[in-house]
Amino acid sequence: MNSLNKPHVLITGGAGFIGSHLADSLLEDGYRVSVLDNLDPYYPVELKRINVSQHESNPDYTFIEGDILDKELLDGINDLDGIVHLAARAGVRPSIKDPVSYMETNVKGTQNMLELARAKEVKQFVFASSSSVYGINPNVPWSESDYVLKPISPYAASKVSGELIGHTYSHLYGIRFIALRFFTVFGPRQRPDLAINKFARHILQGKSIPVFGDGTTRRDYTYVADIVSGIRGALAYQGSMYEIVNLGAGRTISLAEMIEAIEEVIGQKAIIDRQPEQPGDVPLTSADITKANQLFGYQPNTTFKQGLENFREWLIASVLQNS
Ligand SMILES: NC(=O)c1ccc[n+]([C@@H]2O[C@H](COP(=O)([O-])OP(=O)(O)OC[C@H]3O[C@@H](n4cnc5c(N)ncnc54)[C@H](O)[C@@H]3O)[C@@H](O)[C@H]2O)c1
Repeated sequence: MNSLNKPHVLITGGAGFIGSHLADSLLEDGYRVSVLDNLDPYYPVELKRINVSQHESNPDYTFIEGDILDKELLDGINDLDGIVHLAARAGVRPSIKDPVSYMETNVKGTQNMLELARAKEVKQFVFASSSSVYGINPNVPWSESDYVLKPISPYAASKVSGELIGHTYSHLYGIRFIALRFFTVFGPRQRPDLAINKFARHILQGKSIPVFGDGTTRRDYTYVADIVSGIRGALAYQGSMYEIVNLGAGRTISLAEMIEAIEEVIGQKAIIDRQPEQPGDVPLTSADITKANQLFGYQPNTTFKQGLENFREWLIASVLQNS
């Protein structure tokens, strides 16, 4: 098939953890993929270069090194069937130190991408939102119909804002906007600032691990391939024009259980460095995933243990050997 007949998807942030897995999956299934990523130095740029390098010679893949805040650059991107907007300043704790630049990238950047969709008549827009929009929500599991306008970190506020701007653009300009609220994603290429990656590296290197609180906080950890299947579902979705959808695993694991599982998979005990709870952190995240199942047939099927084993294989093969 002529490569121009293939559906063309722009992935912003496609050199990062989740975006690079999505690019792999779309290319595998015959899409054309363009990635727009500024290789933000929030974590080692070398890791992002490795994520994109494998497709360098693929004629269906284009890597654009650039910023979603650069409107001139965006004007030059054409011929898109869909946008998956993942580029963001990620991470709750750093957003507390630097709230202004989080808003700039996550809110203004999201509007820029919606402007691109408006100008180039791109009809399908998938937005990476986050479980953090729920704040401290006592109604578990968390449902998309729960009230979420009490975010407790600048990062969470920026994601709520993205969902709201998306509604306005969808309503006014006929863009189908699907916001996906990801619940703590893990797996190969996971961001090094996230707990599973940091803990596993420290345990392997015999260093202590910083554990915030008493270990009873709980998270709905979601394996990256399951998240990619949810994003693919949202890209293909042709129903209503605006939806907000949780993508989680639908079960929670405590911090203490998570550490035990990593110890088991790695075969080494952790040295715990107990720290106070962090402002902006929520005690629990828990996804009701009924809606994702109804709309996209979403069915996460990777167990926590299997996901950790896949992560360990990647960590040992690609990171520790390079360090
Ligand atoms: N990983 C998770 O657990 C999780 C949970 C909830 C939501 N999310 C959201 O999912 C998305 C992807 O997260 P990730 O974990 O893959 O993070 P990541 O940091 O690995 O990927 C984000 C990518 O965006 C790029 N980027 C940042 N600012 C940019 C800019 N101004 N212009 C162009 N590119 C820019 C970065 O270079 C990076 O490669 C983010 O929007 C994040 O907020 C992630």
